Amino acid sequence: MAAIDRLLEIIEEIAAGKYSNDIMDLTRKDQPEPVQAIAEAMGLMMVKVEAREYRLELMVKELEDLNEQIRQSTINAVSAMAHALAARDAYTEGHAARVAGLGCEIARQLGLKDQDLEYVRLGGILHDIGKIGFSDRLFDPHNAKNPPEVVKEILSHPTTGVEILHALDFLGPALNYVHCHHERPDGKGYPRHLKDEEIPLGAKILAVADAFDAMTTDRPYQKGMSPEVALGILKKHAGTKWDNRCVAAIEAVIHLSK
Ligand SMILES: [Fe+2]
Repeated sequence: MAAIDRLLEIIEEIAAGKYSNDIMDLTRKDQPEPVQAIAEAMGLMMVKVEAREYRLELMVKELEDLNEQIRQSTINAVSAMAHALAARDAYTEGHAARVAGLGCEIARQLGLKDQDLEYVRLGGILHDIGKIGFSDRLFDPHNAKNPPEVVKEILSHPTTGVEILHALDFLGPALNYVHCHHERPDGKGYPRHLKDEEIPLGAKILAVADAFDAMTTDRPYQKGMSPEVALGILKKHAGTKWDNRCVAAIEAVIHLSK
């Protein structure tokens, strides 16, 4: 093949993104002078393009790292808010983290993917963040019936949570889990009385984890139930208060952990 034809062939390959060192063969002294000159220029250009591509790759990697840092900082800031809530309410101490952990185990049992598990975890940490706006008397331990204005305040905490968190894009579907964690399959939940199919699975998972942790935790005015008794209550109300599949999944999780 004539040197000029080979040169054209290699240039076409380079144009198609296939870099090789073949161009260097054409820079040898035994090649026709114009071919040599063009091949040298092409070789130099390739080196520059490759260097630029390498720099671009580094920049993309830096941007990805920065993005992850921002995400992590925001999660930390939001976790700090959850801790601020825990500081007001002795019972809440550890509750959010336990709901997040148990929620993830239920989600894994149901076969959800890692990314979905992460949203369940975030929703678990933040599900009660709306309680941060509660008046102090709501945190006083008591066993008496709450007056109507207090009930109204309690019923609004999922919506308040969404109002606090709605600007955090990285929460994705977890924002709706916060909104729906007190909804029930029979439509008797709050705040929106959603029907079964309108409630996201992540929220159904958190509802079960939340109830189980609330029932099994010791409180100032009541001793926590045993896991078996709490499980019995969940099963009794499966399909009405709590989602059937999620109750079956938490049963499997509890039995596995024994
Ligand atoms: Fe709640």
